[in-house]
Amino acid sequence: MVDKITARRPVRRLLLVFDTRREAFEFLCRRFRELSRKYIAKNGFFAAALSGGKTPVDLYVELGREADAVPWESVHLFLVDERFVPVTDKESNYRMIKESLLDAVPIPAANVHPIRTDTGDPVVSARLYEQELIGFFGCDPGVVPALHFVLLGLGEEGHTASLFPGIDWRSEDKDLVRAVEPVAERLPRVTLTLRAINNGRHVFFLVTGERKAAVVRRMVIDEDQSIPAIRVSPRRGELTVVADRDAAFLVDPKHLGK
Ligand code: 6PG
Repeated sequence: MVDKITARRPVRRLLLVFDTRREAFEFLCRRFRELSRKYIAKNGFFAAALSGGKTPVDLYVELGREADAVPWESVHLFLVDERFVPVTDKESNYRMIKESLLDAVPIPAANVHPIRTDTGDPVVSARLYEQELIGFFGCDPGVVPALHFVLLGLGEEGHTASLFPGIDWRSEDKDLVRAVEPVAERLPRVTLTLRAINNGRHVFFLVTGERKAAVVRRMVIDEDQSIPAIRVSPRRGELTVVADRDAAFLVDPKHLGK
């Protein structure tokens, strides 16, 4: 069973609340499969950017289960962000996505676009990834690539991708990919910027578990402008927050415009 709540202020954001995390994953798998077929029929390819972290692991496993439900030969997978560690490191998002999804589906190696972490410098890796994105989409200078599917996570303090609170937003005006300095125990990272994320056609947050309930409320009800995730607002696309009941228990439908 799902509750469908639409917030129209200030960004049109759909919140879908599923009874269980499994139902939330099954929904996202359906959408990935539907959209992959839609864009492959329309453009000849489907370009999706996936996030790391712990939440989506089981989603990726589920996505890999019915491998023949997706025309993988025409799917291109990008990363939303990456920790600046070797691809063999347990912290690597690429390693997690490879082990949970890539190894289970017949996607050509050339269709997988990891963020390079062997350059010695996250800034160099960010520039290379930006060039790879622009080159893949064949964008003219200044044109922002339009990813068909962007899957985002949400940190308890309101970060998404590797856009953490306190970020210097100025580089968001021109870059598509940026390096993020290490802070405390946090690793250096490379991430898509909001400029790239907000040109996505179908942008999804996947949020599960009680520990995310407070930040879901901050984003969906309070519209707390201090959290980076609130700036995810696709200009020409749709934004859907996919949550299980545990992550959404602080959101009361009466607070949201229908
Ligand atoms: C990462 C992700 C990050 C993640 C959130 C939520 O590299 O860690 O891109 O943005 O989505 O931190 O992480 P969890 O799913 O582990 O809670």
